[in-house]
Amino acid sequence: MKRKFGPIFSYKLVFYDCVGISDFDLIKEALNNPDLSDRPRLHAFEDFRYPTINGEVPGLIFGNGEKWRHLRRFSLRSLRDLGMGKQLLTGDFIRQEAEKFIDRIIEVQRDKKAIDLSGTANVAVVNTLWRMITAEVLEQSDPKIISITNAFNKLVQTPPHSLWTLFPSTRFIIPKVSGYDEARIAHEAVLEIAERHIEQYLSEGKSDDCFIGQFVERAKAENVPKSEWLKELKVTIMDLFGAGSETTSTTLMFAIYILANDRKVQNDLYQNLKEATKSLEEHDFDTGFESPYLTAFIHEVLRFSCIAYMGIPHCARTDTRIGGYDIKAGTMLTLHIWDVLRDAKHFPEPEAFKPERFLKGDNLSKCIPFLTGRRSCPGKAMALQELLIFIGALVRRFEFIAVQDGRSKIDPSKEGLILTCRPFQVRCVERLKM
Ligand code: HEM
Repeated sequence: MKRKFGPIFSYKLVFYDCVGISDFDLIKEALNNPDLSDRPRLHAFEDFRYPTINGEVPGLIFGNGEKWRHLRRFSLRSLRDLGMGKQLLTGDFIRQEAEKFIDRIIEVQRDKKAIDLSGTANVAVVNTLWRMITAEVLEQSDPKIISITNAFNKLVQTPPHSLWTLFPSTRFIIPKVSGYDEARIAHEAVLEIAERHIEQYLSEGKSDDCFIGQFVERAKAENVPKSEWLKELKVTIMDLFGAGSETTSTTLMFAIYILANDRKVQNDLYQNLKEATKSLEEHDFDTGFESPYLTAFIHEVLRFSCIAYMGIPHCARTDTRIGGYDIKAGTMLTLHIWDVLRDAKHFPEPEAFKPERFLKGDNLSKCIPFLTGRRSCPGKAMALQELLIFIGALVRRFEFIAVQDGRSKIDPSKEGLILTCRPFQVRCVERLKM
């Protein structure tokens, strides 16, 4: 985009006036501007989110205004309370999920030469989020978590460029042909799962050591009527899974793909993890997943795969300016993260996979796969923690061997809102204990 249209450009997306930004400094300026932190009104998407007549939309992703700010503050605090970003608490249960994931790989691979890990990785990530949100502990082979994962997958796989999203009136005229019915069914299934577990929480009076529990207790303390908070909570659960599961599991799959296809990187990472573990006491062994090289590797995977390559659109609340250009109120803003993470000015040889570029930490601030500012990804700490623990555990346990050669093609023009890692087969050979 940047090469073709420059660092800032305007365009029309059917009925929407849009401005695209593909330069780090301009994106930073836009994200620091409070007038640009709203989400646009995408009526077709809002259908499933109980919008009020005056236009308030519940939930984290499409909410705006004071209600959204309050919800976002609460959600960040709750996720942090539940251990997001902390060393020990979430680390503990994420680590348990990583161990379960390893057992599952061994089980699935039995008698097979190589396997496609994508489904298994997806369930492992959804199960981790599920535990944090509902406090329910499930095995990764449990049919319940597999069917929940399938329901969330259908939701995120709804193509964003289908007829009903581009021409919203087609959802009333030709609901089936426009793809609207399929999207409605996917959203309803997820909202129904969320409601069932909220009601279960209410009837069983489970511990408030989960997102649902903390949300319900807060609503009660603030005397919010159930008719109101129930909708908000259902949509928020849908948002957390919608934004948090496929993104993390796809990044995990890219990491495994890269490891299997780049033997040097895999070996360097293994040796670094071995070194990091060596200096630990026996009882600290389990915490020895982290090493500077692992952190650098994960940032390079996030940069290189750049799955949320356009983020989620923002919108100008009032007339404002960026980089000297006027932006009219109501303009939709698209932030082209891909261009920033492939900018040779910040990341020399951007097409090369080089974890070393992050070892000194100097260009880390330019690596913005989660964006920054008021609207930035609230799941960043959890995603990083999960990737650190999962990849650390996997590399210590397995040697990944590619079955087909060549890198997965990452082509943003061909995909939806999130890039996917094409299916691949990999051999997971168990290592001798470190
Ligand atoms: C590799 C993993 C992930 C990536 C690359 C990613 C990336 C992003 C990006 C680029 C945005 C848009 C920010 C903006 O518009 O300024 C976003 C928003 C969001 N993400 Fe993530 N994310 C990831 C994981 C997660 C996880 C694990 C969760 C939940 C636990 C999550 C929940 C959300 C939510 C709720 C929003 C909307 C926030 C708002 O509008 O206020 N994400 N994410």
